[in-house]
Amino acid sequence: MRTIIEPFRIKTVEPIRMTTRQERERLLAAASYNLFGLHSDDVLIDLLTDSGTSAMSAAQLAALVSGDESYAGSPSFFRFEAAVKNLFPFKHVLPTHQGRAAEAILFSVLGGQGKNVPSNTHFDTTRANIESSGAEAFDLVIPEGLDPNSLHPFKGNMDTARLDAFLKEHGATVPCVMITVTNNAGGGQPVSLENIRATAAVAHKHGKPFIIDGCRFAENAYFIKLREKGHTSRKVEDIVRDMFADADGMTMSAKKDAFANIGGWLALNDDAMAQSARERLILTEGFPTYGGLAGRDLDAIAQGLKEIVDEDYLAYRLRTAAYIAERLEALDVPTVKPSGGHAIFVDARALLPHIPPLQYPGQSLAVALYLEGGIRSCEIGTVMFGLQSDGREIAAPMDLVRLALPRRVYTQSHADYVVEVFENIARDKRKMRGMKIVWQPPHMRHFSAKFAPL
Ligand SMILES: Cc1ncc(COP(=O)(O)O)c(C=O)c1O
Repeated sequence: MRTIIEPFRIKTVEPIRMTTRQERERLLAAASYNLFGLHSDDVLIDLLTDSGTSAMSAAQLAALVSGDESYAGSPSFFRFEAAVKNLFPFKHVLPTHQGRAAEAILFSVLGGQGKNVPSNTHFDTTRANIESSGAEAFDLVIPEGLDPNSLHPFKGNMDTARLDAFLKEHGATVPCVMITVTNNAGGGQPVSLENIRATAAVAHKHGKPFIIDGCRFAENAYFIKLREKGHTSRKVEDIVRDMFADADGMTMSAKKDAFANIGGWLALNDDAMAQSARERLILTEGFPTYGGLAGRDLDAIAQGLKEIVDEDYLAYRLRTAAYIAERLEALDVPTVKPSGGHAIFVDARALLPHIPPLQYPGQSLAVALYLEGGIRSCEIGTVMFGLQSDGREIAAPMDLVRLALPRRVYTQSHADYVVEVFENIARDKRKMRGMKIVWQPPHMRHFSAKFAPL
């Protein structure tokens, strides 16, 4: 069949509220043109993030009811642990309340002043946890990963030659090598199995543990099935097992590829490292059989892990992003190519060349998407990265707007609606103006800065 349908029926619905343009004008002004300041029930299609926003299945909702809330030794934990180990055969699995808690625990053990941690591209919470331990984070993605027009099939790959050189130079200060699958901060681009294995080999040659940030492991495995030679007829579950076979540990946000609204874990093979991590876990998250989670959350994750490797779901998932990207390209709305797994990244700087980067074309586009159609997206550009620690402001390498796709939440007609809103915006794009910042905090300004239209 040509049409890839949503492989589910809808059993429970949540109405979304239509608003008028006039209402949206008022709501935007009240939020100082910062989309993080909107109330989510004033948003029609919420593409702010794919994190924690998945729709649970009937089986997950049923699993919530069988969650056991015992403080220690809950059967929910053992179901969670078995589901994790079924895909990722690590010796120790420590539940955490979300991904960044797993990172904080990992770097409380491995981080510290003078240490250096390389990855393809660290996600911002990973980078922040490394830096707050006193260590430094380094991104060594292949050059194609930084080119929005490169059609390389695995733009998330690690530059293993640079990694080898990095380890030769800094080896003594490197506590571990990381890789993020898919590479969220690099546009949700996948990493090939060959590259994961090569990265593990380089890390191990230098005697370093190899840790995978596995947030979108299933999307990455499906990209391997589609794009890497020799995997077309293999089961996604087996590809996942291969992806993690050479790793010494993983961090995970279950808010992504486990269909959970909250949760995560840290998994490790090394007994001594796991013992130190467990001590920290008790201090910051909770007893090792619940971490920062309720028993019902552990059961939702256990069930979600069975569902996420379903290939009909993954085909629909990846096709949704590709479908929106293709239709935007047909409207001459430029996107980062090829489309990633969890989001479409629109190149606002290329779409709005008359708006200089320091007038925030990405923010202008994000505001226009809300004004025109009630769509919430996220600027990933000069607003997010332009403010330097010395207070100077410089243009970010790119001004993008991310349309992140919550899992199993929206249908094709929602996708068509998003494209139609872009069509209206693109028609009048020359009339669009930039924005100025009228107030900002010293750090992470994108969350709370106040804007005014120019
Ligand atoms: C690649 C990656 N790593 C880590 C995290 C952090 O996970 P959490 O939001 O659950 O703390 C995220 C969240 O977006 C992510 O995308």
